[in-house]
Amino acid sequence: MASVALLQSSIQPFSPALSPAASPPLALSEQDPTASDIFSISDQQLSDKLEFIKEIGFGNWGSVWACRPKVGDVSETRYKVAVKLVHRSKTPTTAARVRSLWNEMKIVRTFKHESHPSIIPFHSFIITPSYALITMDYLPRLMPVEVRESKATLWFESLVSGVAFLHARGVVHNDIKPANILLSETETPVLVDFGFAEKYDSSAQSAFQSSLAYGTPEYLSPERARGHLHDTRKSDVWSLGITFFEILTGRTPFEKEEGEEFSTKEALEDYWARTVSGVWIGEWNMTPAMEHFLRRMISPDAKCRITAAEALRDSVFHPSHTRTRPIVSLVSLAEIMTKFIGTRYGDNFVRSFVGKERYLAISSSFRQITNQARTWILFIYVICQSQTCGASAAKGYVGLAA
Ligand SMILES: Nc1ncnc2c1ncn2[C@@H]1O[C@H](COP(=O)(O)OP(=O)(O)OP(=O)(O)O)[C@@H](O)[C@H]1O
Ligand SMILES: [Mg+2]
Repeated sequence: MASVALLQSSIQPFSPALSPAASPPLALSEQDPTASDIFSISDQQLSDKLEFIKEIGFGNWGSVWACRPKVGDVSETRYKVAVKLVHRSKTPTTAARVRSLWNEMKIVRTFKHESHPSIIPFHSFIITPSYALITMDYLPRLMPVEVRESKATLWFESLVSGVAFLHARGVVHNDIKPANILLSETETPVLVDFGFAEKYDSSAQSAFQSSLAYGTPEYLSPERARGHLHDTRKSDVWSLGITFFEILTGRTPFEKEEGEEFSTKEALEDYWARTVSGVWIGEWNMTPAMEHFLRRMISPDAKCRITAAEALRDSVFHPSHTRTRPIVSLVSLAEIMTKFIGTRYGDNFVRSFVGKERYLAISSSFRQITNQARTWILFIYVICQSQTCGASAAKGYVGLAA
């Protein structure tokens, strides 16, 4: 589903530093005369520079093309670049599109000299009388879904690290979803489409605070969908959690049926109520550690939701130094012991060791002890977890012990 603004009333207009009519690249070049990645050229020069091979995507803000540079040495002309392009006709809609592209360029350009493998590398911004365009690395594959957990976990770590990298530099993406994640030649997941991204001065008191409701409905955190004043970083974490769930299972956790549409206010309200309840719909197949991790990301209460930096430290990425896993293993052990004693094989096994008389005496107290142990272990586990966040920990615990 395409990105939309959910609540019109809460949307504030973009306020770019410059209007496209004022020829933004020239103005930027004046501010930064050394800029070697921003060009104002004629349409003819553009067609001499780039061969447009085919359209590979389109969205609200323009179209994306696979292109080949026509100039440069042979090795340069062999590779492809991706070009995000908007037309510059003088209508209010296209003006807004150019402003959005300009905003996107300013943000991705920030990372030109300090890159991250999971953030799209920016090449240049070009403006001609007819077009405005961003050129960037060409990434051949869309993020697949229903991916094996062991493989997906490596991708998740890279993406969480990319989002933590953005947040640490004052940038929020605001539209994280599988359609905005592509795979590089080396199978590294890369976040693209910074059309809704924002950059904050991290030291300002209002940094990261917003009441905007832009985004894609299935991936919008409950507080952002409502247009409440919220921390946009936490909203990114929610979207990333929903995205991870979809990469693993092929669907989002709160959708009732495949391709559910949110064309009416009622449908959106209904969907929003589901996200607030935090109850995942249908079936999912993932390890308890992964489920616990996703529940920490998809916590309906933003205060209980982990940050991207915390997500990066989650035991799902560091299975050898996990804090929760030994307790989980004890829980499982207690459970196995309890169940084992209750089976005929288990009973016979114990009886053959201790004899019938002693077996009858100990079996009931044994079951009682293991049941008590299990209860205590779970109780301590929930208490430990609830120090950071009660509700989501309790849900995580249900997932672990079920
Ligand atoms: N660097 C790239 N390499 C290859 N394909 C790309 C690249 N960037 C974008 N695309 C393709 O183009 C599509 C649209 O790009 P992008 O998401 O940036 O545009 P958009 O207009 O903001 O779209 P939407 O409104 O649907 O989010 C992507 O989903 C992807 O399929
Ligand atoms: Mg997109």
